[in-house]
Amino acid sequence: MKRNIAVFASGRGSNFIALAKEAQRGRLKGANLALLVCDNPNAPVISAANKLKIKTLLVNPAVFPNKKAFEDAILRHLKENKIGLIVLAGFMRILSARFVKLYKNRIMNIHPSLLPAFKGAHAIKDAFGYGIKITGVTVHFVDDKMDHGPIILQREVAVLESETVDSLEEKIHKVEHNIYPEAVNLFIKGRLKVKGRKVLITTH
Ligand code: GAR
Repeated sequence: MKRNIAVFASGRGSNFIALAKEAQRGRLKGANLALLVCDNPNAPVISAANKLKIKTLLVNPAVFPNKKAFEDAILRHLKENKIGLIVLAGFMRILSARFVKLYKNRIMNIHPSLLPAFKGAHAIKDAFGYGIKITGVTVHFVDDKMDHGPIILQREVAVLESETVDSLEEKIHKVEHNIYPEAVNLFIKGRLKVKGRKVLITTH
């Protein structure tokens, strides 16, 4: 049986689009990209999902009395859609410890730096401004701290002397669009084993 995936996104959605395209090309074997969860009514990712004919749940936190009610609404839909893996792709919100526990080691996040360096919402600009020579991309399982859980995959990106923040951003996104489907595939094939902070990648 195929495993249903939900992608959570708040903005542009280039990682969501990359994953959806891989799924449509049959390159996420054993997975079904069943749902986009978006917390921002103005996010371009919503129209991308419509074009790709992927079901969207828009949950605007402003209409809920508190975080628990907001997350309960999401959890209800995840259950209804039998979601087995949550993929955070530019979802700019910290999930509660209760939420993370319910999907322990079944929530992934992508971050545009080599964690633990440059956590937060402006990692590319921060790394560039710091004058870093090598940065990169991290895919990790999510725990209740920001950009923190066990690391699944990391890939380096060199910062050239001629680099601008825009060219670096472009290079990083390109890497993200390859590494995220790769990590999702490893998960679907049951090849990721979490041991404390380490994620072991098994051969089959
Ligand atoms: C991506 O670069 C992702 O790594 C980053 O948000 C961007 C979303 O782009 N996530 C974080 O910074 C998480 N701390 P997208 O909407 O085009 O996929």
